[in-house]
Amino acid sequence: MPITTCVFDAYGTLFDVAAAARQAASEPAYAAMKDCWPQLASHWRLKQLQYSWLRAITGAHTDFWEVTRNGLDWALDAVGLAGDPALRQRLLDLYWELQAYPEVPDMLKALKAAGKQTAILSNGSPDMLDGAVQSAGLGTVLDDVLSVESVGIFKPDRRVYDLVGQRFGCAPDEVLFVSSNGWDAAAAAGYGFCTAWVNRAGEPVDRLPWTPDTILSDLTGIPALAEA
Ligand code: LAC
Repeated sequence: MPITTCVFDAYGTLFDVAAAARQAASEPAYAAMKDCWPQLASHWRLKQLQYSWLRAITGAHTDFWEVTRNGLDWALDAVGLAGDPALRQRLLDLYWELQAYPEVPDMLKALKAAGKQTAILSNGSPDMLDGAVQSAGLGTVLDDVLSVESVGIFKPDRRVYDLVGQRFGCAPDEVLFVSSNGWDAAAAAGYGFCTAWVNRAGEPVDRLPWTPDTILSDLTGIPALAEA
């Protein structure tokens, strides 16, 4: 089936999740971050995701903002910066206005020009996603922003992927689902979406029962892939 609908993960895919730690580390007030910011960013992301999966498995759902804060607190503790409340607040504020990767606006414009429907499907809470979409100026090139909060469980639960068909009335094989998270792209392939894994860091393929259809190093190839 031709692709009618292109759906994107948000954090790490459209928005650079390392940007908050990188930005804080460049500010004189947070010089303590100068050397450890990559480690902090990595711990923060990993714990945020682990907590989302653990809450999904145990039925202890909370929203993504809480697991984002919990992950940050673990990460600050791990790098010895748990005693700096101003830094914690600065990092949380920056998370609401993460930069989009540079190719994102033109890529989404090209999809809209080609008549595709475009959306975000994210673990993020609606207000977090609204903050990120507005600060990146993407509101006009996205048809919708779908949050897991409407089903109350995180990815990769199938009920999250069901939201795409419910919103756009399309079959799974008409959807190109794009994620920088190998596990998300793999699970979406298992669900039946056409999938692209954006593997900017050149990571190994996740050992899961499903594999993404296509692997890209950034998002510039998405409009061509949606036409293929
Ligand atoms: C999201 C996370 C998984 O945006 O990156 O859903």
